[in-house]
Amino acid sequence: MIEKYSGQQAEFSVCFEFEASLKKEVGVLGIYLGESTNQVIVSLGEKEKFTSKIARRACAKAVAFVKSMAGSSVVIDFAPVVQTLGEAGVLAGLEGINLSLFEAENWKSNSAKKSFTVYIDATEKVDDIEEKIIQVSNVSQNVLFARQLVNAPANFLTPLNMAKEMVQAAEKCGIETTVLNEQEMRDLGMNALLTVGTSSGNPPCLIVLRYNGDPASEEKIALVGKGVTADTGGYCLKPANSMKGIRGDMGGAAAACGAILSLAQNKVPVNVVTVIPAAENRISDDSFIPGDVIFSMAGKSIEIGNTDAEGRLLLADALTYAIEKENATRIVDLATLTGAVVGMFGFTTAGAVSNDDLFYEQFERAYATSDEQYWRLPIFPEYEKMIESPVADLSNMSNDGCGTITAALFVGAFNQGLPWIHLDIAGTAWVDSPKWEFQSVGATGAGVTTLYELCKLYARKG
Ligand code: BES
Ligand code: ZN
Ligand code: ZN
Repeated sequence: MIEKYSGQQAEFSVCFEFEASLKKEVGVLGIYLGESTNQVIVSLGEKEKFTSKIARRACAKAVAFVKSMAGSSVVIDFAPVVQTLGEAGVLAGLEGINLSLFEAENWKSNSAKKSFTVYIDATEKVDDIEEKIIQVSNVSQNVLFARQLVNAPANFLTPLNMAKEMVQAAEKCGIETTVLNEQEMRDLGMNALLTVGTSSGNPPCLIVLRYNGDPASEEKIALVGKGVTADTGGYCLKPANSMKGIRGDMGGAAAACGAILSLAQNKVPVNVVTVIPAAENRISDDSFIPGDVIFSMAGKSIEIGNTDAEGRLLLADALTYAIEKENATRIVDLATLTGAVVGMFGFTTAGAVSNDDLFYEQFERAYATSDEQYWRLPIFPEYEKMIESPVADLSNMSNDGCGTITAALFVGAFNQGLPWIHLDIAGTAWVDSPKWEFQSVGATGAGVTTLYELCKLYARKG
């Protein structure tokens, strides 16, 4: 909860000071006891190098620290942030506060959540910021919603339960929703998705959320998010130590949902459809196996090289659905798709692939605002060959390395030439040890803010 500074004495007070002589590094805390209040000084580093990201991190660090000291409230003096960065810094700082207030659900029998209040000492005024504060707050809440979905155990968050959660949240902000069941997907020929989804007793579904913020426009951005609520690998079973992250394989779905909720709540004038293929990847007596050939909704045949490469099968049909049934004019898909991207970029940076430079330029602007990190990968013609199959139009696995790019190219084969961006967030959607102060252990909510900023760039002007 963020409230304006009420003037009352707080248990702890936090000041940000440029001159803090204790330590030079950003985010290092020096503590000293004042006369009547406890103060925490978060050094912001050198003034010239002060950025929104540092403001976000410093605010998060202050909150986390006071919480760890069993404090119940904190006053944050925003003056240095206002003076140096203005509005952008204030909004980033508020986001840091919101995100650091997150407490993951647990199922301990004796758990109790403590309330915590943050007061902003806003002696320096920024004009016309009130509405933007509400907007940032909405987006942050949706980042936290995404985290909650991703953290939820797979036995709670089955595909149908995920649909229920998302539909409930979407309806609250006037988003139109449709959930296709197995039979409806069969009627549409979505057999790539069904091949994966019918491996489980928990049936698959397709979740569709529509926000038409600009009804006069024909333009429509599709956000397609991989929604595998449990990925065992199927018959190409994952080794036990890789199974820990099994429930987090719907980070793309959570982000696509969080972004559209934010756009609707903030009434951004843009048309967006979120399409989420939701399924479990399990083993049953009639699950798919390597060597099978299956047929996608687009009519392309696919040879199964590895049943653990299930995400691209879901995305293939979801892209086709978004284009043919929802009339999308441009597409972003995002997914916890490959282990290879984690090897490449670790847990701070997601891989990106695009067929459209202008679209990608906008995307770069979007993530510059959100402060998330992405890196574009090349799509040389030689890579296309790596997913050729001797018996089908495509293979779902490369035998020649380049796991992240070949997975992207597989999905791209279903974009029908529309402007398209593919994001592999396998490294960034989940952190066993947080990389920035505004993160918590587990789900990060990666992608929500960047997708929101990207769609905003396509909103009607004026
Ligand atoms: N969901 C996984 C990718 C993943 C790995 C996500 C690590 C998060 C952390 C995906 O379905 C998968 O298993 N991909 C395989 C593809 C391979 C078999 C071609 C992979 O990356 O190993
Ligand atoms: Zn897999
Ligand atoms: Zn997966």
